[in-house]
Amino acid sequence: MKIYTDPYLLQDFLRTSKKAGKTIGFVPTMGFLHDGHASLMAHARAQCDILVVSIYVNPLQFSPNEDLDSYPRNPQNDEQICAQQSVDIIFRPETLYDHNHATFIRVERLSTGLCGGSRPTHFEGVCTVVARLFGFIQPDIAVFGEKDFQQLAIIRQLVRDLAMPITIIAAPLIRDTDGVALSSRNKYLSPEQRKKAQSISRTLFHIQQEVNTGNTNIHTLRKLARNQLQVDELDYLDFVDPLQLTPVKDIVEPTQLLIAAWVGKTRLIDNIRLTP
Ligand code: PAJ
Repeated sequence: MKIYTDPYLLQDFLRTSKKAGKTIGFVPTMGFLHDGHASLMAHARAQCDILVVSIYVNPLQFSPNEDLDSYPRNPQNDEQICAQQSVDIIFRPETLYDHNHATFIRVERLSTGLCGGSRPTHFEGVCTVVARLFGFIQPDIAVFGEKDFQQLAIIRQLVRDLAMPITIIAAPLIRDTDGVALSSRNKYLSPEQRKKAQSISRTLFHIQQEVNTGNTNIHTLRKLARNQLQVDELDYLDFVDPLQLTPVKDIVEPTQLLIAAWVGKTRLIDNIRLTP
């Protein structure tokens, strides 16, 4: 396993490899890796010759009041997880932008609701960094987790709209044994807050169970959900079309239920598929 910090050296190496007929798989991350990230690597590993994992806490996707400075880091553990997943290259740049960087990518419609509502500049930061990473790495495939359901939909749109020859692969959301969706930000939670966080996945499973037994009325389901949640503040709880991310009125087709909520100073997101 090689570690690159210089994006241009990495680009040179990968372009040479491509000319030699190698396929490139890519998993972008912000580090503090866990089993959710590892599962993405396993998906990618099975479908490429050279597997690249990037670790970069992208300042562009944090707004000034967010946790950029305190975002957890653990380079040694990250390396260990990558080695276990037979990663070929870790790309860990100090910075990714030139000082005169001036191009920013905005995906309209999909970026406005849900997380875009409370984080209005977030997805522009995500799209800009992902596009730039794609430029350096030029992967054949890239894997994203359904944990960040809206992000995945936006990246698919980005790649389509900019005609990038990259196959985007979705990997399922991975949970901890107590049901909480794995996330680097779970590190912020005290034991008491962890209990509150558990109410998010418990609520999702409860609603899924209700839908499975024939309750498809969103009004009733929303009430049930709100009664179960023990978070400090609910950001949103939305039933949406899984592709367009637009709100649905009733659950007649497969629907995604997405929740974002605050537990203390930590913002958590989770989601589940509901199939009537
Ligand atoms: P990060 O939060 O580190 O997540 C990197 C990738 O891991 C994303 O595709 C995310 O959906 C996936 N992931 C995280 N937790 C997961 C879980 N519990 N189960 C399955 N997949 C999970 O998402 C980002 O970083 C950044 O926005 C990035 C795309 C790297 C751009 O900076």
